[in-house]
Amino acid sequence: MPANTPDTDAIAAKAVELISAGMVVGLGTGKAATAFIEALGAKVQAGLRIRGLPTSEVSAALATKLGIPLVTFDDVDYLDVCVDGADEIDPNGDLVKGYGGALVREKIVAAYARKFVVLAGAEKVVSVLGARGKLPVEVVSFALTPCRKHLERMGFPSQPRMKDGQIIVTDNGNYILDCVTTAITNPAETDTKMLAIPGVVGTGLFAKMAHIIMIQAEDGSVEVRQGSAG
Ligand code: A5P
Repeated sequence: MPANTPDTDAIAAKAVELISAGMVVGLGTGKAATAFIEALGAKVQAGLRIRGLPTSEVSAALATKLGIPLVTFDDVDYLDVCVDGADEIDPNGDLVKGYGGALVREKIVAAYARKFVVLAGAEKVVSVLGARGKLPVEVVSFALTPCRKHLERMGFPSQPRMKDGQIIVTDNGNYILDCVTTAITNPAETDTKMLAIPGVVGTGLFAKMAHIIMIQAEDGSVEVRQGSAG
């Protein structure tokens, strides 16, 4: 692991304890989710029979490499559980996600899961969403400019996400606008308003979605919190 990268192995191991034979499991994206997929893969190799539904092409490739059988929404109506990371967690258990760019599939998979379990290091805990300064919003490429202008009028100036001088294309063929944020005190309302912009596909605001949140401190201890899902 690179220096300064917080460890998430303890929460990944704890989350794997929630998985039992026959389950359909949502496989998140990012570092914490990768630790979970690797722990789950070890269980599968030891004989556990589950099926995974990945939230990104990257997680699909990892799961396939580890021998985790995969399904799509053509095969199942719901998932038993989805396990994913987060970029911000507020005191209510609402989240910002999507720094890794998989926000749209992550929200869909989590929404169809009976239990949404979130894994994160303590550095992701904030007093209010937006505190880390970024909210990803996925937009249809055709509507990049009007979406950007509309978000700015809402108080969210943004930049298209780039890599090596090229605009990044998501797994869904869209673009991401990284909005500059201050405090987002009403995430559900902000999400609704952003989703009403023609061309916006999804936002990184996950309000009232998480059931269980596992937070790993630097010393490796794990705190389990209730999320904001009803
Ligand atoms: C991917 O789009 C994200 O939502 C990740 O789940 C989130 O960024 C957490 O990732 P890390 O565990 O890598 O911090």
